[in-house]
Amino acid sequence: MHVEVLAGDDWKILQEVRLRALKDSPAAFLATGEPSWGEAEWRTYSREGAWIVTRSGDQVIGILHCIRVDDRPTDERHLESVWVDPDHRRTGVLRTMLQYLAAIEPGVRILMAWILDGNDDARAAYERLGFESTGERQPLTKPRLCVEERLRLDRQAAISDSTDS
Ligand SMILES: CC(C)(COP(=O)(O)OP(=O)(O)OC[C@H]1O[C@@H](n2cnc3c(N)ncnc32)[C@H](O)[C@@H]1OP(=O)(O)O)[C@@H](O)C(=O)NCCC(=O)NCCS
Repeated sequence: MHVEVLAGDDWKILQEVRLRALKDSPAAFLATGEPSWGEAEWRTYSREGAWIVTRSGDQVIGILHCIRVDDRPTDERHLESVWVDPDHRRTGVLRTMLQYLAAIEPGVRILMAWILDGNDDARAAYERLGFESTGERQPLTKPRLCVEERLRLDRQAAISDSTDS
């Protein structure tokens, strides 16, 4: 397993894996236009924040989009578009990507993510990794009627918890 940040000109890799993720797990995401995007949109998207990918051999088997949001604290990042190939789930791919993120951005303490109601597998994985609900819930009407809830990981607290005896 090899983890890295996609370079800005790797938009074709992003396009391939993101469309695979949307096809595999449509209920997990709120994507709208991506299937009809052209090169310009993918190039722009690939340069927004950091796209972390995991490869097994030549194949990308996991992806995570990490974004610094302007009006949020500097030690906080927003995670989205998190996806692991079904053949590689529960083998530690997401855990490894979060560890990689911690290694390349050691100053980041808080990770935030929205999760759609009903996505119980992802919620179980996030909670296992130390994320907790913030209690913030958001009803959405587009692209479909649904409700999402915000989860938060305080890395420092998670490390302290795991070292408590
Ligand atoms: C959510 C998702 C990214 C998790 O990725 P993953 O690589 O399978 O997660 P990991 O293997 O790193 O698991 C991390 C921990 O969560 C646990 N876990 C993972 N999936 C679980 C599940 N469905 N139920 C219970 N625990 C689970 C793992 O066992 C592991 O704990 P452990 O190390 O103590 O054994 C993956 O299931 C996925 O791609 N789902 C579809 C897309 C999706 O829902 N994305 C999230 C959008 S918010």
